[in-house]
Amino acid sequence: MSDFLSARRTRLAAALPLDDAILLVGAGLPVPLPEGSDQSYPFRSHAEYYYLTGQECTGGVVAFDPRDRNTRDGGWVSFVPEVTEGERVWEGRTQTPGTPLAALESWLSARRGRPVAMLGAPLRTVAADDPLTQRTREQLKHARRPKDAHELALLRRAAAATAAGYAKLPGLIRPGVTERALQIELEAEFFRHGATRPGYGSIVGSGPNAAVLHFEPSARAARAGEFVLVDAGGEIDRYVTDVTRTYVVGEPSPFQRDLYHVVLAAEERAITRCVPGAEWKDIHLAAAVEMVGGLVAMGVMRGTPESLVAQEAHTLFFPHGLGHMVGLGVRDGSGTLPGRSKDPRPSLRTLRMDLPLAAGYVVTVEPGLYFIPALLNDPARRDRFRDAVNWPLVEQHLDLGGVRIEDNILVTPGAPENLTAAIPKAL
Ligand code: GLY
Ligand code: MN
Repeated sequence: MSDFLSARRTRLAAALPLDDAILLVGAGLPVPLPEGSDQSYPFRSHAEYYYLTGQECTGGVVAFDPRDRNTRDGGWVSFVPEVTEGERVWEGRTQTPGTPLAALESWLSARRGRPVAMLGAPLRTVAADDPLTQRTREQLKHARRPKDAHELALLRRAAAATAAGYAKLPGLIRPGVTERALQIELEAEFFRHGATRPGYGSIVGSGPNAAVLHFEPSARAARAGEFVLVDAGGEIDRYVTDVTRTYVVGEPSPFQRDLYHVVLAAEERAITRCVPGAEWKDIHLAAAVEMVGGLVAMGVMRGTPESLVAQEAHTLFFPHGLGHMVGLGVRDGSGTLPGRSKDPRPSLRTLRMDLPLAAGYVVTVEPGLYFIPALLNDPARRDRFRDAVNWPLVEQHLDLGGVRIEDNILVTPGAPENLTAAIPKAL
């Protein structure tokens, strides 16, 4: 087994709250497509299993017994199914190294009566201790948050592939180019530069589509003067970068330029705040206050930025959190610090994580300001925020789309490192 995997297992054996319990982590099974086409959704081992094995192994189970901690493998056993002839013939699969899965039953019988923490994709045949499982999952997630050297190397490679894709875009963005054409060129460059797949469904939205947070690219052609928002990233061996850039087709209007610079300034300041010990919610709130300040200066909102944010008025234009953790998957270890419950302040409703940052964490910083008709045409919001917003000005921009700018930031003991800094963000 690779050194980095042994190191992870040793570290987790010490971090997990197992006492005398045993741990099982399942890879999961393929999910067939519903229409009986002899095909499955692309198989991905559960991230908790992948972290411990580095393997895509359908039906695999990794087990740990803390009583065997002092044996050669430190108490860890990787059980793998025997590859079938059908899998060899149709999929070209080869045998994953490990202990035959058939031996799991006797491993479990020898430990009968002990509590089981069941992570990854659960095994239906084994009864788990649910509260223990929940505590163990929380601790595993927390222990995975600081990225090790192997993970950072993959993230740097994924960032380089992503940068190559984005480098293509400025030369392609002109009136008439479709969202689909941009997606094709972007993803092709990711692959040409080593990506194993796009890290998530690429988002390419032109004009009003730039205000749809998870827009799927369409055949729509961009027009002169429109925003084009691209949120995409390459993945290498399950490690994902998540980057957003917003462009204008041709010359930006003064309003577009101002909006862009409000978001860019908030992003750059938020990045500088990503240091060990900083509370993520404070970074989020500071960015919200700064962007609301920008909207007040532009004449879009009215009032003092802090009080507008305290009343949640920022969510009219900034309806999502400042970011999330990224790495082994596009949300990786996001969530709350173990033992922390959700902060009830309305201004924090949209946050995907609530924890203090620490060295080794990789987070996205992705502020955005959008004109989203579904929010801005809502009568209840118009009534609640009637004095906070210059509604006639908003009316003029309901089809403007929006701006999001996103980088992936490595928290270090010193200054934050922007892993995606090579992707230009001047308008
Ligand atoms: N890249 C899309 C998201 O973070 O939601
Ligand atoms: Mn993101």
